[in-house]
Amino acid sequence: MLAYVYKDKERFALEERERPVITDPKDAIVRITLASICTSDLHIRHGFVPRAVKGITVGHEAVGVVEKVGAEVSNVKPGDRVAINVETFCGECFFCKRGYVNNCTDKNGGWALGCRIDGLQAEYAKVPFANTGLTKIPDNVSDEEALFVGDILATGYWAADISGIEKGDAALIIGAGPTGICTLLSVALKEPGRIIVCEKEESRRQLAKRVCPAAETVSPEEVESYIKTTCERGGADVVFEVAGAENTFELAWKCARPNATVVVVAMYDKPQILPLPDMYGKNLTFRTGGVDGCKCAEILSLISAGKIDAIPLITHTFALKDIEKAYDVFENRKDGVIKVAIKP
Ligand SMILES: NC(=O)c1ccc[n+]([C@@H]2O[C@H](COP(=O)([O-])OP(=O)(O)OC[C@H]3O[C@@H](n4cnc5c(N)ncnc54)[C@H](O)[C@@H]3O)[C@@H](O)[C@H]2O)c1
Ligand SMILES: [Zn+2]
Ligand SMILES: [Zn+2]
Repeated sequence: MLAYVYKDKERFALEERERPVITDPKDAIVRITLASICTSDLHIRHGFVPRAVKGITVGHEAVGVVEKVGAEVSNVKPGDRVAINVETFCGECFFCKRGYVNNCTDKNGGWALGCRIDGLQAEYAKVPFANTGLTKIPDNVSDEEALFVGDILATGYWAADISGIEKGDAALIIGAGPTGICTLLSVALKEPGRIIVCEKEESRRQLAKRVCPAAETVSPEEVESYIKTTCERGGADVVFEVAGAENTFELAWKCARPNATVVVVAMYDKPQILPLPDMYGKNLTFRTGGVDGCKCAEILSLISAGKIDAIPLITHTFALKDIEKAYDVFENRKDGVIKVAIKP
């Protein structure tokens, strides 16, 4: 089968590989029908993910059809269309029992697919812990609609959840890339009074408006004064930092009102400064981390009910054999790309 492999820093290659086989009773083999490329794949390519293992197939966002299951897999069967979770998790350890699946203590727990074990930019993939990692896609949900459920939609949904946002709150989302848009879609379900989206690129501000017409959009240059003059309590009630740029962490806490929650979704490539003396008395709460993606069934039922639609994120589709080109378009933001879909 064809698979896209992490060979070395700055070098991924399309290779012919053996099809995966079941080696544990909790494994399932999935025939991938649609995959995508995530910013984290680019981080692996550039050597920013030290735990990534050379020689593995990359990719951790995909949907497919179950081909074969191990003896202990009971929630899916061959022939089922499934969304694949970015995280594989045992469901039984201290962290899993509390929903903190990103920190599952199993050796294959957390973000392993396409990082430490063979991933999903391939024709077939082996998914460990299939009972927790695979979710059946409802019949009225297409592959395209379900493509982001296991990764960036899970992230946006998790971010909205941990923010503690309440009905009527003013939310600020910094960054309207794919993950920021998924955060926007999830935050909108919490019925905030206002959603303000701060994004550098005009075309992405427009996309935010398109997926959520009630959102107010603003540029990074204007956001602080916009927030200070339009939010009654001197800042946003909840801030989501989903940009991960040079000054966006600072922007996030500066735009928060006293006693607000700041959710840091972004992953930075440099340490950030938390200037406690400057924010003394503002009494902020910070929430951060890698997504605990264990609500895929909930997200799929919201898609099925027409309450979440991430289709506008898919701007380009490529065949797996052309994946090099897909990486080039995605990484270099060519041709107005937001997300690419890869068809094996
Ligand atoms: N916590 C998690 O589990 C998790 C999961 C997925 C993604 N992420 C992280 O979330 C971040 C966003 O991911 P993405 O895939 O959407 O990436 P992205 O790079 O496409 O999105 C970032 C967006 O921020 C915008 N931006 C840059 N500087 C800005 C500024 N000063 N003000 C406002 N907007 C600005 C960019 O134009 C871009 O649209 C990344 O850091 C990624 O690593 C974290
Ligand atoms: Zn990802
Ligand atoms: Zn676990």
